[in-house]
Amino acid sequence: MVSTNRWHKAQKHERDYWQKKAARIAYGSTEQLNWYAWKAVEMEKRLQGHLNEEHKQSAKILEIGSGPIGIVTFLKWGERYTIDPLEDFYKSNPVLSHQRDSSIHYCQGTGEKLPFEKKYFSLVILDNVLDHVNEAESVLKEIFRVLSDDGVLYLAVNVHTKLGGVLHSVLSKLKIDKGHPYTFTAKSIRNFIREHQFLVQAETVNDYYLAREKDRKSTSLKEKIKGYTGLSEFIYYSVCKKRSSTV
Ligand SMILES: C[S@@+](CC[C@H](N)C(=O)[O-])C[C@H]1O[C@@H](n2cnc3c(N)ncnc32)[C@H](O)[C@@H]1O
Repeated sequence: MVSTNRWHKAQKHERDYWQKKAARIAYGSTEQLNWYAWKAVEMEKRLQGHLNEEHKQSAKILEIGSGPIGIVTFLKWGERYTIDPLEDFYKSNPVLSHQRDSSIHYCQGTGEKLPFEKKYFSLVILDNVLDHVNEAESVLKEIFRVLSDDGVLYLAVNVHTKLGGVLHSVLSKLKIDKGHPYTFTAKSIRNFIREHQFLVQAETVNDYYLAREKDRKSTSLKEKIKGYTGLSEFIYYSVCKKRSSTV
């Protein structure tokens, strides 16, 4: 758990990030919010064999910390929900929200206190969120509560090497990295998942050295510094089930 004050600082940083991005797009920048469709395709590949295909159309899906659009916007199946503490801000900005799908329930709220009944969802998505939250432990407990017994948690989070993790946690505490109150390594996220009664069914960990090379070649000074100091992040993906449902 991080202090509420620390989390609010991270959320202010997050909101500023999206506001600036929307302004650049509005003023004609070529950058777009086009990664959600790609992420949806990647997630569907990773979920193959883990979801009950027969019940897919009636699946209930929740994406926590979806950002302005969310992966769920690009799924063609299921009853879909998102929840994000910045939802009121996202929906008020036409640049950020124009790709949305009117059949989705976009909700304001946090992963620590989900306004849903127990065992309601067959799939929960947590992509690029766990290192941004206030109480990571409570988020996983809430996911466990709202997921059905045979439900699936799809989790993706940025991780660091052991050394990068030590450096990052110092930068995070000093609020030099304002946006990430938590630091994970591949080992610590695996332990965290296990401690919260989930079992990893499949996982992929991106290559640190590729991430480092990309950062080193970047034109951004910040990314270059990351690349030369061991702070490059790479992504950990897993498909998890509730422990009680697999034993
Ligand atoms: C880095 S953004 C990622 C957004 C989106 N998942 C993506 O990949 O584009 C992190 C998101 O997590 C949300 N978030 C932060 N704390 C949260 C919490 N306690 N519960 C749920 N979402 C949270 C932020 O508001 C933000 O939208």
